[in-house]
Amino acid sequence: MSNSLFRTKKIASILAEGGDDTGGGGQLKRVLTLKDLTFFGIAAILGAGSFSSLGGAVFHGGPGVVILFIITAVACAFTALCYSEFASRIPVAGSAYTYAYASFGELFAWIIGWALIMEYSIGNIYVAYSWSDYFTSFLEKINVHIPQYLCTSYMEVKDLLANGSTNKDVLDAWNNAPLVGGLRIIFDLPAFIINILITLLVYRGIRESRNFSNVMVILKMIVVSLVILVGGYLVFSKGLTFNWTPPNDAGARSFMPNGFSGVMAAVSGVFFAYIGFDAISVLAEESKNPQRDLPRGMILSLVICTVVYILLTLVLTGAVNYRNFEGVGDPLAFIFEKQNLNVGWMQFFVAIAAVIAMTSVLLVFQMGQPRIWMSMSRDGLLPPVFQKIHKKYKTPSFATIVTGLVVGVPILFTDKTFVLDFTSIATLFAFVLVCGGVLLIPLKDKQIGKFHLPYINGQFIFPLIVLGAMLLAVSLSTNYFANMFSFDFSGNADYTSGKISFMDAATPNITLIIFWIAALALALATFIKKYSLIPLMGLITCLYLLTGMTKSNWAWFLGWLAIGLVIYFLYGYRKSKLAP
Ligand code: ALA
Repeated sequence: MSNSLFRTKKIASILAEGGDDTGGGGQLKRVLTLKDLTFFGIAAILGAGSFSSLGGAVFHGGPGVVILFIITAVACAFTALCYSEFASRIPVAGSAYTYAYASFGELFAWIIGWALIMEYSIGNIYVAYSWSDYFTSFLEKINVHIPQYLCTSYMEVKDLLANGSTNKDVLDAWNNAPLVGGLRIIFDLPAFIINILITLLVYRGIRESRNFSNVMVILKMIVVSLVILVGGYLVFSKGLTFNWTPPNDAGARSFMPNGFSGVMAAVSGVFFAYIGFDAISVLAEESKNPQRDLPRGMILSLVICTVVYILLTLVLTGAVNYRNFEGVGDPLAFIFEKQNLNVGWMQFFVAIAAVIAMTSVLLVFQMGQPRIWMSMSRDGLLPPVFQKIHKKYKTPSFATIVTGLVVGVPILFTDKTFVLDFTSIATLFAFVLVCGGVLLIPLKDKQIGKFHLPYINGQFIFPLIVLGAMLLAVSLSTNYFANMFSFDFSGNADYTSGKISFMDAATPNITLIIFWIAALALALATFIKKYSLIPLMGLITCLYLLTGMTKSNWAWFLGWLAIGLVIYFLYGYRKSKLAP
């Protein structure tokens, strides 16, 4: 039993099924170039994270969130290199799932495939909600009003009222919602409809989707650049740069007014903003030259978006004091409002751009999910119907419809914060396994024209980096390691947003303790086995970001994994193509 749980798929057989150069499986059309892949990356990355969750992130961490953007970018860059290494060796659809199958074995592959449902489908629920926020506020600007009970989620309204909210829109939604059988009909209609439209477009075909996506990416880059240029100019010309060092509660000016714990409280939102570069890897079977273009597309889109995020955060926190971002869901439009920079036409432009940006994110993820399921079905872990390709459109038709349902149905009864945290923790978890997987696959000879992850011997460098990080932690806070084990009633943690509960902070920091134990164990293993430095850095930085997740996030995520394991043992384990 234990051996069969870790049965691995041979890379040669993955290529034979999925199609390397000739199309192998030959069923999906090979039409995507490097430009298309980079555009897909930007389309996936730049969306709700920058247009919506950036407000909450800045509110938690102040201008210091820039540091978290840089740390996260480093983690994503190392991970992208690991994805690239895998993608160049295994250029088929399926992304991290396929890679894990070749390195860790079937059980881990299933776990990753299951976690990726969070990234692709559940993440899209957050994007659909954010899309709806901007879409309805855009409609408001042109005097079209949708009733409040049709543009907000039931759970959100219920939770806010339970917490004593007196917000006008919340009360309006609750009081005016029609009653059916005693139940108030409150749901996010625009989010629901955009999901149906995107599902239809993806069902219709890759070429049409690609053209649509490219146009949207160009438009959103233009408007984001405009926000940076106009906002940046005004920050300097109005002499607002003092906002980059706002006073903290004690009155001292600081780039991180809530300390580093405030910055780390923003990790879900910041990491969510980066999710997407990996989505390119699921397009391997539709790419003209996957070995060359997948790695380049991933890194290029990541670099472009990182620069954009850093500049956006600086513009936002320069234009307005970070505290004013409390509860702001449309931060890029907010900074141009009358009481802030006061540029009316920019508010209008940003509203349009946000709708465009988030439409393209929805599109990319809605395309990614069916392709992962298709791979899992090929391996026998999901029923064969998931690999059904539409005769005319050449798209995974059944899996596309199921994706539409998995995104669309929960839109009716979940809320934004919940899906944001869920998506980030599951995606980080998948990244950790990808980087770990690269450590386990054997080194290969350099082949001309193929991406090759340079081997840098981590034997001495990595243990020194871990040691250096420990010294740095102690030099920044003498009691750093002692505090990790103690009960934290100091008030350093940020409970105000509801993102960190009292329980989360009032117990020893278990995730941080596990992180340092893992770091030391990795340092020791690297010293002995001479592991490659790049995947090690990806692994350690992603593990560090995971320490920012709350215990309640972990509880939900582990519950989700448990459900996945039950399904695996009931179906996949027995039906797997590798089963004897
Ligand atoms: N990074 C994507 C976004 O921000 C998921 O919408």
